[in-house]
Parts: sequence; C-alpha cells; structure tokens
Amino acid sequence: MTILVTGGAGFIGSNFVLDWLRQCDEPVINLDALTYAGNLENLASLQGDARHVFVKGDIGDRALVDSLLAQHRPRALVHFAAESHVDRSIHGPGAFMKTNVEGTFTLLEAARAYWSTLEGDAKAGFRFHHVSTDEVYGSLKPTDPPFAETNAYEPNSPYSASKAASDHLVRAWHHTYGLPVVTTNCSNNYGPYHFPEKLIPLMIVNALAGKPLPVYGDGQQIRDWLYVTDHCSGIRAVLAGGTPGETYNIGGWNEKANIDIVKTVCALLDELKPSAEGPYARLITYVKDRPGHDRRYAIDARKIERELGWRPAETFETGIRKTVQWYLDHPDWVARVQSGAYRDWLDKQYG
Ligand code: NAD
Ligand code: DAU
Repeated sequence: MTILVTGGAGFIGSNFVLDWLRQCDEPVINLDALTYAGNLENLASLQGDARHVFVKGDIGDRALVDSLLAQHRPRALVHFAAESHVDRSIHGPGAFMKTNVEGTFTLLEAARAYWSTLEGDAKAGFRFHHVSTDEVYGSLKPTDPPFAETNAYEPNSPYSASKAASDHLVRAWHHTYGLPVVTTNCSNNYGPYHFPEKLIPLMIVNALAGKPLPVYGDGQQIRDWLYVTDHCSGIRAVLAGGTPGETYNIGGWNEKANIDIVKTVCALLDELKPSAEGPYARLITYVKDRPGHDRRYAIDARKIERELGWRPAETFETGIRKTVQWYLDHPDWVARVQSGAYRDWLDKQYG
C-alpha cells in the first residue's frame, strides 16, 4: 500500500507527509515541482527514510504522472499542489490557471486512466483526494451563517476562482466517469513551515526583524484559523471514511479579525522574546487594502464531525503559542527561506 501526494514540500503538504509517517508506515511518493513555495528542508528529518520517495516534477507533466502511477500503484492520490497565495494571484494569475486548473485536469486524467486498470477492491477503494479551500464560497456578511458544503460557489480572487474551477473538475470526473473522489474545503491554516508571505508567519518574522507589520485596510477582515496538523488529521479522516463524490468542510470554529491575530502574535512575542525597543505592537502599520479583499470566511464543520467524528485537537491559544515558539526555535529555517538559500537545499543535501 502506497499513497501519492502532490505538493508535499509545501506548507500543508510537508506537515501532512511528516504527520502521516509519524502515524503509520505506509510509504508516500511525494511529487512536487519545488516552486518558490516548495522547501525540501521541511522534510529533512525523512532523509534516508525509505518510506518517503521524493520526485521533483510538475503535476502538469502527464507522462511523469502516468509513470509514477504505473510504477508505484498507489491506493490513493492526495492532491495539495497548487499556487496558494491570493496576493500573487492578483499580480500574476497565469500560474494559478496553469497549476490549479490545468494541473488538476492532468492529474484527474492520469488518475482516471490508472483507476480504469484496477479491479475489485483496489478499484473500489481507490481515492482521489482533492485538497481545496473555503475561499471558493466567497465572502460572508457579519451575520451570515458559516459556509456549509451546500453553499453556492462565489469565488472572488483569481486564486479562489482557480481553486473553484479545480473543484468543479473533480466533481465532474466523479459524476461522469465514476472516479472515486473526495474534496475537502478548509479554512486558513497556520503552524510550522508556513511560508512567510502569509499573514501569521510574516508578522512573526517582520516583528523579530523590527520591520513594519503591514495590516491591509482596516484589519477587520475575519478568517477562521485552524492549526495545520488538525487539517492533516481531517484529511486522514476523510481519506479513510469519506464517501466518494462528497465534499467536507474543515475548520477550527475560530473566527478572528486580522488585527486581533496580529496583536496576539505581538503579545506572545512580548512574552517569549521581548524587544529592547518596546512592545512589538508599535510596528503595526495599516497599508492599502488587497483588491477585492474578502471580508469574512467561516466554516461550518459539523458534517465532518457528525459523519467521521473529526474535531480539531488544538485551540487557537495552544496552536498560536506553538507556532510562535516554532519560529523562535527555527531562526535558521527562517533565514534560509528569506535569503532564498533554501532553494540550494536539494543540492546541499542530496548532491
Ligand atoms: P504552498 O504554496 O505552501 O505549497 C504548494 C506546494 O505545491 C509547493 O511545495 C509547490 O512547490 C508545489 N507546487 C506548486 N505548483 C506545482 C506543480 N505545478 N506541480 C507540482 N508541485 C507544485 O501551499 P499550502 O498552503 O501548503 O496549500 C496546499 C493546498 O491546500 C493548496 O491546494 C491550497 O489551495 C490548499 N489550502 C491551503 C490553505 C492554507 O491556509 N494554506 C487552506 C485551505 C486549503
Ligand atoms: O481560507 C483559506 C486560504 O487561506 C487558503 O486557501 C490560501 O491558500 C491561504 O493563503 C489563505 O488565504 P488568505 O488570503 O486568507 O491568507 P493570507 O495569509 O494571505 O491573509 C490572511 C488575511 O490577512 C487576509 O485577510 C489578508 C490579510 N493580510 C495578509 C498579509 C499577507 C494582511 O492584512 N497583511 C498581510 O501582509
């Protein structure tokens, strides 16, 4: 038994691979193109571990995906690989269409061809698990109920539109061809190995460097934060027990305004690594808003709890403390990511 993971050198993918191999011995084939967001250093602890096979490559390379499926005959494909940053999608949407839409299409076609060669239990048990986002549902008003799986899709950014498109492809490949797919739509993750272009890690590394903490607009936009290993356990639950063709929302029941997140990070840093210059909140700087900025996301995670018994293990208080502490404990990781030196890791480690 083997699983094929795409995007397993990114933030959530690398946490998933590490967690998976902590929980079981089932090997992971990890296909990742190592874009700017892919960092093999995240997986350094698996060096020499035969259960982890890393393959540098693009999900849009059909011949490569075909050969990996034929060679390793995985029982499941867990698809994380994507362009994931909303601000980058505003500056340059092309890569988002290429990877998130065309790349997912290529994977679906390769998975369909492979799956059609399977028989009996292997065919029935195969899963294509598509990892998606709550952003496909658009933006909530202050009094709206949280996003349920039945909400209409109303994506607002090039990123969320590309993810919505990929969700629709996955749905159609089930409906038309019978491919056993499951889709999870998760809220904002945070935790170790989060690339410091996203809100929480950016605030931590900027604060430690004494740089401004840029808060978009009025800072009152709301996100529903989930500690990354809780997302990983939710994916494992859906992979193990989810019904093919179904979608499952994953979230932390933890809505917070951005400005409160930033103030919490500052307060934790004041406690754990006080600055001689004074409280870190002095660095908070309101800047121009993100174009088309979604005001509020919130997830109704009752379906995954009711059907699969999943609940997050971390509260926001425990998760954010662990996260800030992780960044304090890993200054070398941060320095290599910031200098770009992490991109030399492959050569350095593997010659
Ligand atoms: P990330 O940007 O940190 O990592 C993406 C990974 O995909 C990187 O390792 C990158 O090298 C790889 N990749 C990109 N293009 C590729 C391609 N063409 N072929 C192969 N590999 C490629 O992203 P993340 O935050 O870890 O998100 C992972 C998935 O989870 C994405 O699909 C994202 O939409 C989804 N998601 C993210 C969040 C979040 O809060 N970060 C929340 C919900 C859902
Ligand atoms: O909701 C799930 C999504 O969460 C994922 O699908 C995306 O891949 C992931 O990047 C994340 O998207 P967001 O746009 O919500 O995350 P980001 O960390 O970029 O921003 C979080 C909020 O903080 C958002 O309202 C914008 C704001 N922000 C962000 C940055 C980087 C700031 O105010 N200042 C900043 O510098």
